[in-house]
Amino acid sequence: MPAELLAIDQGTTSSRAIRFDLDGRPLQTAQREFAQHYPRPGWVEHDANEIWETTLATAREVMSDDVKAIGITNQRETVVLWDRTTGKPVHNAIVWQDRRTADLCDALKADGLEPMVQGKTGLVLDPYFSATKIKWLLDAVPNARENRDLAIGTIDSFLLWHLTGGKVHATDWTNAGRTMLYDIHARAWDAELLSLFDIPEWLLPKVRDNVAEFGDTDLFGRSIPILGMVGDQQAALVGQACFERGMVKSTYGTGCFMLMNTGDPVASQARLLTTPAYAIGDQRAYALEGSIFVAGSAIKWLRDKLKLIDDAAETEALAKSARADHGITVIPAFVGLGAPHWRANLRGSIHGLTLDTTDADLVRATLESIAFQTRDLTDAMKADGATKPSALRIDGGMSQNGWFAQLLADVLDTPVERPASHETTALGAAALAGIGAGLYSDAADFGRRWQAGARWEPQLPAQDRDTMLDNWKAVLERALAQ
Ligand code: G3P
Repeated sequence: MPAELLAIDQGTTSSRAIRFDLDGRPLQTAQREFAQHYPRPGWVEHDANEIWETTLATAREVMSDDVKAIGITNQRETVVLWDRTTGKPVHNAIVWQDRRTADLCDALKADGLEPMVQGKTGLVLDPYFSATKIKWLLDAVPNARENRDLAIGTIDSFLLWHLTGGKVHATDWTNAGRTMLYDIHARAWDAELLSLFDIPEWLLPKVRDNVAEFGDTDLFGRSIPILGMVGDQQAALVGQACFERGMVKSTYGTGCFMLMNTGDPVASQARLLTTPAYAIGDQRAYALEGSIFVAGSAIKWLRDKLKLIDDAAETEALAKSARADHGITVIPAFVGLGAPHWRANLRGSIHGLTLDTTDADLVRATLESIAFQTRDLTDAMKADGATKPSALRIDGGMSQNGWFAQLLADVLDTPVERPASHETTALGAAALAGIGAGLYSDAADFGRRWQAGARWEPQLPAQDRDTMLDNWKAVLERALAQ
């Protein structure tokens, strides 16, 4: 009987399950969107019940008798506080995009705590990470710090809890590494950080490597082992087979997350993040990460709020039809700016509007803003001593837009490659489960199957690139000066 692998990919806007064969071909995919809650400006919540229900429904839809193991990957940093006796969340999940703890982060920065936090966790003091969200939840829910029936964790641990019928409360080190409570060098929850945020350790999950025996699930009519778990951006790094130092991938999902495999941890001087990349057997690697909060969500905004398009795919033809000299610059700080600026309270703006500005110009300028932000990340990586990669591997919804991929190659002055498989994130989780099940001998065995699907070479003359980037920098600096 052929062996198959099931990946659960729980993202910011939808839950997906994909069944793969061992060549990494997706055999069946199911996807369900769920509601986004915005209770106040800058606040973003999910109903964790809906997250679990959509995850289970999609996994049931694609499950087969040939699935040998399950891998879980997930939106990172988002936190759930739940009751161990009922499995029910006691509050809506607070999502990674949520900015409600911006003032607390500013106060901690003013107290000079950022170097200590950065040294241990590789992260900067920003509401993006889980610690201040967890503190907020524990302050908001009465007696939460004394109630031993409660458990807290990122989405991976909440799903694992449910899949194992409440038997296992565990996470993996890539997800733990985004909480701002985990010392990524000592590889343990950190007592000083737990005390700073007033978080009892018993509330937190146990931390494991990415390939481990996470537990078995009986929810599909038989017992199936869960053998892989990984945050979604690290999953994409695995799915893109970036197993050598210096290899870089960029995923254009809700946000854009660029990870460079650095092998050993590199302390960033350029406001990038140092983050666990993967731990597979005796192979352990770290990454430098640039996190941009808005990429696909800007396209969703063009579609759902401005109603300039009916479908994301239309952006390609519209951008092509727009004038190159449209003069518009979009600063997509809808939820503040992430790396390398870290300005939680900044908001989006559009510069250079005239009476001739068209829908196509706005669409093109929005796509350009995402390419320019990607360039800011590669510049920051260079400032941190990284050598220019031979190519950037891209994935995620926006990577299907060929015009955008060419723009990226031009703006970065680096070839851009898109793999043959479009399901890189889920594939990464499946690969880890496959390694755990002995279906691949190691990461390299899986990595040999990676194939380029398309490649774009830089074509734009250097002078044109410089003009575009100079304009972007000037407008961005004005916006940052606000
Ligand atoms: O850090 C947030 C990230 O994990 C969310 O990923 O794919 O939902 O944009 P995505």
